[in-house]
Amino acid sequence: MAVTTSKKQLFTGVRVGEMKLKHRVVMPATSGLRAQWPSSVPSELMLEYYTQRASDGGLIIAESSAVSPAGRAYHTGPGLYSESQAAGWHRITDAVHRKGGSMLAQLTHAGRATSSEIIGAPPVSASVDPSFWADKSIVVSGPNGFTLPSTHRSLEVREISEIVDEFRLAAQNAKASRVRWHRDSGRSGSSGRTVPAGSKQ
Ligand SMILES: Cc1cc2nc3c(=O)[nH]c(=O)nc-3n(C[C@H](O)[C@H](O)[C@H](O)COP(=O)(O)O)c2cc1C
Repeated sequence: MAVTTSKKQLFTGVRVGEMKLKHRVVMPATSGLRAQWPSSVPSELMLEYYTQRASDGGLIIAESSAVSPAGRAYHTGPGLYSESQAAGWHRITDAVHRKGGSMLAQLTHAGRATSSEIIGAPPVSASVDPSFWADKSIVVSGPNGFTLPSTHRSLEVREISEIVDEFRLAAQNAKASRVRWHRDSGRSGSSGRTVPAGSKQ
């Protein structure tokens, strides 16, 4: 069979921001719900999973990591707001880098799409929309299986900037040890330090 131009292109290098990839097969973010609970620290199984999927010159976009305990959408989803979570992710990125791959973090806040069984408090949203929790087709993954999202409340104005801060701190957790998240630079030295994320966990 003749190799088409598009197939040839798939296995050619490309620059994505500061990353130089050797091919264009990128793994998208795929939540596996295998983090430790209740710490939301990435697990041994996640280390094995991502290591298996790493390739020389390839890119993996990590599954979404919560920016705060209240931002968790799934009860076994990972976080990136505590030092132990960042350390858990770094074990994974180190393994991916050893195979020549690159990895990006994805930061998330569940908003109203979660349950008090998961976050221990009512979910928050910009405004209250009762049709959301009345819709029985919307489910979230809690400690006892799928469950309906809990009744949410609207954020106070001051809480909005607190959530912006949570994203900033989680991004710093990733960026402070950036060389561990992006394979190619080698410029900053690999201190692996993380910025204290102000987390209670
Ligand atoms: C089990 C599962 C978990 C997923 N987790 C995430 C996630 O954590 N973050 C995200 O942005 N997308 C997530 N996705 C969406 C996938 O990235 C998306 O399905 C993939 O990019 C393929 O795109 P398509 O479904 O439009 O074909 C998930 C999809 C599946 C099936």
